[in-house]
Amino acid sequence: MRKKIIAGNWKMNKLPNEAINFIDKLAPLVKDTENEVVLCVPYIDLFYSLLSAQGTNIKIGAQNMHFEENGAYTGEIAPNMLKAIGVEYVIIGHSERRQYFNETDASVNKKVKAAFANDLKPIVCVGETLQEREAGKTEEIITQQIALALEGLMPEQVQNTVIAYEPIWAIGTGKTATSEDANNAIKAIRDKICQIYGQNVSKSVIIQYGGSVKSTNCQELFTMTDIDGGLIGGASLDPEEFAKIVNYDK
Ligand code: 13P
Repeated sequence: MRKKIIAGNWKMNKLPNEAINFIDKLAPLVKDTENEVVLCVPYIDLFYSLLSAQGTNIKIGAQNMHFEENGAYTGEIAPNMLKAIGVEYVIIGHSERRQYFNETDASVNKKVKAAFANDLKPIVCVGETLQEREAGKTEEIITQQIALALEGLMPEQVQNTVIAYEPIWAIGTGKTATSEDANNAIKAIRDKICQIYGQNVSKSVIIQYGGSVKSTNCQELFTMTDIDGGLIGGASLDPEEFAKIVNYDK
């Protein structure tokens, strides 16, 4: 059985004191879950969040990083910096980074490798635009994105990669993929991984769905055969709402 990972992506939201208050409220609400609980917070909130999450089952992740370990990259954060303060997860290749910050399949691949070199768990995002979906290209686009993101990795590394399928048209729009469509897209990603890395890897790799997940639609999505939890944006900003999503199976 694959574990479910329910991860919040706060994007550019919450000051350090708000992060601390959030975790204080969330911790007792999710303490009994068997699902993995992750909060991916802005860089400035990481250290405060790590301290607040100590002694809880909440894991902390970053939302991006550079692929080099040091150097003249003004304004960037290195993977070993994240590791040094105790960060466990890092989102890589979110569609907002691809769209607004020139993230490419090539830089995503470098970052995934750098995450493993620094013992961080990458959450790798893929997803199609509305235009691509309407042109019937969803599977082609997402399987290509995933093949390029994971190129050159060892099978054990792929097995330890978390993948988030996030159709771009469903992010922040209130439009969710139907559970069947989301499951089919995730199955296509799993089949591609099977083709390249074999069945053992494809059966155990965790693939989440993201895009307008809320407490009212999460159960239907997360109980589909191939959907292993979710990457949650807007609905992860409220501790009660996020706790309901984490506890969808209670
Ligand atoms: P929303 O849940 O706000 O649609 O955002 C999804 C997302 O981008 C998570 O990474």
